[in-house]
Amino acid sequence: MKNNIDHNKCKKCKLCIEVCPVNIIGVDKNGLVNFIPEREEICLECGQCMAVCSTNAVKIPKYSYKTDFEQFPTKTINFQEFKDFVSTRRSIRNFKNKSVEKETIEQLLEVLQYAPYGAEPNKVEISIINNRKKIEEILPATEKFLDDIVNWIESPIVSKIIKFKKGMETFNTLKNHLYPMSKLENYKLKYGDRITRGAPALMVFHAEKGSEEHTHNALIYATYVMFAMHSIGLGATINGIVPAAINKVNGIRKVFNIPDNHEAVISIMFGYPKYKYNKVIKRESKKINWIE
Ligand SMILES: Cc1cc2nc3c(=O)[nH]c(=O)nc-3n(C[C@H](O)[C@H](O)[C@H](O)COP(=O)(O)O)c2cc1C
Repeated sequence: MKNNIDHNKCKKCKLCIEVCPVNIIGVDKNGLVNFIPEREEICLECGQCMAVCSTNAVKIPKYSYKTDFEQFPTKTINFQEFKDFVSTRRSIRNFKNKSVEKETIEQLLEVLQYAPYGAEPNKVEISIINNRKKIEEILPATEKFLDDIVNWIESPIVSKIIKFKKGMETFNTLKNHLYPMSKLENYKLKYGDRITRGAPALMVFHAEKGSEEHTHNALIYATYVMFAMHSIGLGATINGIVPAAINKVNGIRKVFNIPDNHEAVISIMFGYPKYKYNKVIKRESKKINWIE
């Protein structure tokens, strides 16, 4: 079945035409609201045309009014409530020795249905390692990867290769962020697990290499999930080391069953927090450039 409009239901309010981000709905020569056949192939399948329609007249094959739409909640939060919520989130690196129930994780992932995404097909996948032993399996190889960073950055030739192959963002992250910490043996396992912080669970966001917008989509998804975790009292920290190690060290992706043609973008380590924070941290404002 193709995109279509039920003209028995259509009130010709034309809101679907207004909201369509790719302008594939119009008024045809008979004065009916219809999908424009030669433009349909660029449909983003975002569902906005169906969501805005008050008479359920619009239909795109991917969605059903029955199963894929919900009534608007009667109450959402105001700005102050939103600010209070985000200001009380902290990166949690101390966890109770308690695992997270699978049903809880499944519930958290529901928020991803409401997240924005760029460019279909959206190929982001999520691997959930809800098993501390499996997480521990990757620690020695990750420690070695972090040790190697010291040698790479201290070698002018390897530094050049990293800059050329991975770009300046990766090089600067390694040189200015990870190198000084690795040099000081911060991540050495002899001091304990400072890589995944003893977290009982880990969530890795990954996608087929080169797939459209996957980096941005994965980061937005991780942000949504992190806030969902905060909302139910779970502690979470975005972890950039694990995905870097997954991408660099073959053995690690195998432990987590991440396909060879996938790139890990970001991960979240999570569990029940051991400590409560007393204060909100107010960080310096970002540099804002106004054009008025
Ligand atoms: C892209 C990214 C990567 C991060 N990687 C790590 C990491 O590997 N290990 C870690 O302990 N924290 C990591 N963090 C958490 C930051 O250190 C943390 O967000 C920052 O210190 C601010 O603290 P807050 O989250 O409590 O506000 C990462 C955060 C981001 C956004």
